[in-house]
Amino acid sequence: MSSIEICLTHEQLENYQHKDKNVVVIDVLRATSTINTILFSGAKSVMPVETLDECMKLRDQGYIIMAERMGKKVEGFDFGNSPTKIKKSEFEGKDVGIATSNGTKAIVKTKGSHITLIGSFLNLSKIIEYINNSNNDVLLVCSGWKGSTNLEDTLCAGAIVAGLQNFEYDSDTVIIAKKLYEQSKGDILSLMQKSSHAKRLSGYDNVKDIEFCSQVDTQEILPFFDKEKIRLL
Ligand code: MLT
Repeated sequence: MSSIEICLTHEQLENYQHKDKNVVVIDVLRATSTINTILFSGAKSVMPVETLDECMKLRDQGYIIMAERMGKKVEGFDFGNSPTKIKKSEFEGKDVGIATSNGTKAIVKTKGSHITLIGSFLNLSKIIEYINNSNNDVLLVCSGWKGSTNLEDTLCAGAIVAGLQNFEYDSDTVIIAKKLYEQSKGDILSLMQKSSHAKRLSGYDNVKDIEFCSQVDTQEILPFFDKEKIRLL
């Protein structure tokens, strides 16, 4: 029987075994929701990078460049990290580079996995379907916020666990995430609105991003990280 484990912040990833596992990176507010929306809007690829300098250099290669720090768009980049700013007319057929505070760092760290999937509520069922159909151990990597566990990523990890069949686990983080989801699945948005990052984003007039990222199964896509770029499987 395959196993499932949850890492609650990307800084803790060194304490987990991710090599050769099916890894799902989760950053609901907003990196993985935004990356999925970019690909759902027809972009060719999304390159996650750790630093602003790496991202800026991609402009000369014709990439759309996006960067966020502390929830805000970084001066000098084409976009920040808001999924509600993504327009098909601007992104279709394009290569995109993105650097965010936590989510893109989490993705880059998972090199060596069997496969790294990009998970959010938007493509929840596609993630669950893939995991259930592949006989491999799974590690869910929540991005968190600057080393701290966050509510929305843990909730999404719990939603994935709740949909799995024939998986075993010996992990308190899996129990915590699953219980959190079971208590809140009726109203994901109102729980997300209580999160520290939702409050931070609301202060920057990003309220609609929170509603957008709480939608379930509106994007039937399966983005995966091929160690350099993220594309659709
Ligand atoms: C992150 O990478 O920590 C988040 O995506 C930040 C954000 O977009 O607000």
